[in-house]
Order: sequence, then structure tokens, then C-alpha cells
Amino acid sequence: MAKYKIAWLPGDGVGNDVMEAAKIVLDKINLDAEYIHGDIGWEFWRSEANPLPDRTKDLLGKTDCALFGAITSLPKEECEKALIPELQGKGKIYASPIVRLRQELNLRTNLRPCRAYAGNPLNYKEGIDITVFRENTEDLYVGVEFHPLPDAVRKVLNENHKKMARFDDTPGEDIAVSLRINTRKACRNIITDAFEYAKKNGRKSVTVVEKPNVVRETSGLMVRTAREVAKNYPDIELWETNIDAMVMWLVKNPLDYDVLVTSNMFGDIVSDLCAQLVGGLGFAASGNIGDNYAVFEPTHGSAPKYAGMNKVNPTAMLISSMLMLEYLGENEKAAALNGAIGAVIKEGKVRTYDMGGSNSTTELAQAVADKL
Ligand code: IPM
Ligand code: MG
Repeated sequence: MAKYKIAWLPGDGVGNDVMEAAKIVLDKINLDAEYIHGDIGWEFWRSEANPLPDRTKDLLGKTDCALFGAITSLPKEECEKALIPELQGKGKIYASPIVRLRQELNLRTNLRPCRAYAGNPLNYKEGIDITVFRENTEDLYVGVEFHPLPDAVRKVLNENHKKMARFDDTPGEDIAVSLRINTRKACRNIITDAFEYAKKNGRKSVTVVEKPNVVRETSGLMVRTAREVAKNYPDIELWETNIDAMVMWLVKNPLDYDVLVTSNMFGDIVSDLCAQLVGGLGFAASGNIGDNYAVFEPTHGSAPKYAGMNKVNPTAMLISSMLMLEYLGENEKAAALNGAIGAVIKEGKVRTYDMGGSNSTTELAQAVADKL
């Protein structure tokens, strides 16, 4: 029996292409694992009105962790139109399977390392090495939203907040409300994870990225919690930066930053910026990590126009596989894989189109495998 059972979730579009690349590398590295395919994505939305079928969730329960490719999601109306006729008009609502996985399995930490591999022609600057810790289950992503605003909800809000009065003349149909819900526990967990990572990896600072001057309660809770947690790590500096200033500083002085920690929505935004600093979505890897399970995925979407063309850069998927190896405690294999990715990029002989080359997805993966 293999040492690990890994759920294999290619999903849609280029998810399949980059997972094939991951397989080439994982086979070469001899990970003692059984890979078990799971259904997920658009096809299952169309045919079952559920892009994350229960059988797939059962599979996750029986595996150590999952590798996930990419998924197509579209606005509400287009989702409805894509359903097979029997399922249309039944009020089925598309919910992003990756967001569901994060919340339903409490994969509370989204780890997004953004490292400029030396010699990558797409680097904004050499030497950038930023790790984003994004809270992964709460915030604006909880999906507690209203449109139109029900009278009962308006009544409770009016009774409890005087600032609601300015909307008294606006009809419910003309008001949309999305709740930003953040708990002390989740704030503490993500901040602690960021500091622990900084400690283990000899990082000097952790920057909490929020907006407490305006969003006083939710952002305020994050920052106040960060100050408390920071007391346990006297050797690591806590910096506090507002999200708007942060994106400016990251463009101006990206080498100043080490570890960033932030809430779900700001983390979504700032991690795309950091990804672009080190070569774009082709290099943006992530781990969704909980106490008992983890899902590793490139941050890019399913890029339907490139699907099946064996064209896109698989590096984000390879780095995600490296994060998976670290999660499994296979640190030597993880370091070897990281070294091989770095060597191929530095040599620059094998490059996908985004890096100005003409090599395919699998050729790049093969080049990395050859270095192992
Ligand atoms: C990400 C993505 C997802 C998110 C989408 C696909 C739901 O942008 O992982 O950053 O918003 O979290
Ligand atoms: Mg995103």
C-alpha cells in the first residue's frame, strides 16, 4: 500500500494540463503515493447542479490531502443558462467549489509564497520573497448577502445602528448588503500561523494588512489581535499597513517585505499583486491548509482559451506540489523540487510562452523532472 493517498482534482480547462505536468514531476521524485481522481468543476455543475459532488467530498475524507487544478466560475445568470434543461428554473445557485472546500473543510490558512526565482524574465525585481497568509474561511467570503434587503433585516439594522438612517428613503430592491464577518479565533489563527512561519524561516517582519482607520470593527479586530499575538514573538517585528498603502509600497519597495498577513478579501487582492511581482499567475501557488486536511492549487483560473493546448506555464502547479510535499513532511523532496524549478528557470533554456519561450507545459515539467 502506498504511504499517501492523494485526491487528484484536475477540474476544468488548463487544470488538466497543469496537473499532467505535476504528475510528471511527482512520478520522477518517487513520491510513494496513490492518486485518486475526484469529480469537480463545471461539467458537474452543468449535469448535476453541483460542481463539488458529495462523492468527491467523501473521497477527500479518505485521503491525506488533495491537489487541485482549476475551475471555471461565471456570473449567476450564465451559470443558470449552462445547466442541462431538466435542472433549469429550479433555483439552483452556483457556489465556487474552492470557496466551499475552504469553508466546509475549515482549510483556514491560505499560504501563498511569492518568490522571484532568479533569472525569471518576468520578475519585477530580483530577490523578491514575500509570503502571504490569507485568512481563508471568513470575511466578505462568508456569503451572507442580501438583495433586495429584507424588511426584517433592515429593521434590526436600523434599531442597532444610527448610520442606517440615511438609507430610509431607499427601497429594499435598491439595496444590496454583503456582511463582512470576522471572528477573533480566525484572526488569531491566521496571525499565529504567519508568525510561526516567520520564526521557522528566519523572517524579520510580519506585516498585518488591513484598513482599521475606516473599517473599524473587522479590520480593527485583526490589527488588535495581531498586536496581542506579536507579544509572543519578540524577535519578529510587527508592521501595520493599510491595504491601499500596502499595494503602493509593494510596487515601490517590494524587497522590504517578508510575511504579510491579512483577511480573506484583502488577501485575495494583495496576493495577485504579489504574484505579478514574481512573474504573474504562472508562478502563483497556494496551499489551503486546515488542522486535518489541505488542498494545494495554483491560483490561476481555468483559462478556457488555452485548455488542452499544452501551452500554459505549469510552474504554479509545480510550486503547489512542492508545498504539498512540505505539508506531508517530505522536506527533502520538497527542497529538491524547489531547487529543480529554480535551476530550470535560471538556465532559461526551456520556457513557456509567458516567459517569452515556445516550450509546452509538459516540456517544462519534463525539464524540471530531468533536474531531479
Ligand atoms: C483565489 C481565487 C478565488 C478566490 C476564486 C476563484 C473564487 O481568486 O484563489 O485567489 O477569490 O479566492
Ligand atoms: Mg484570487
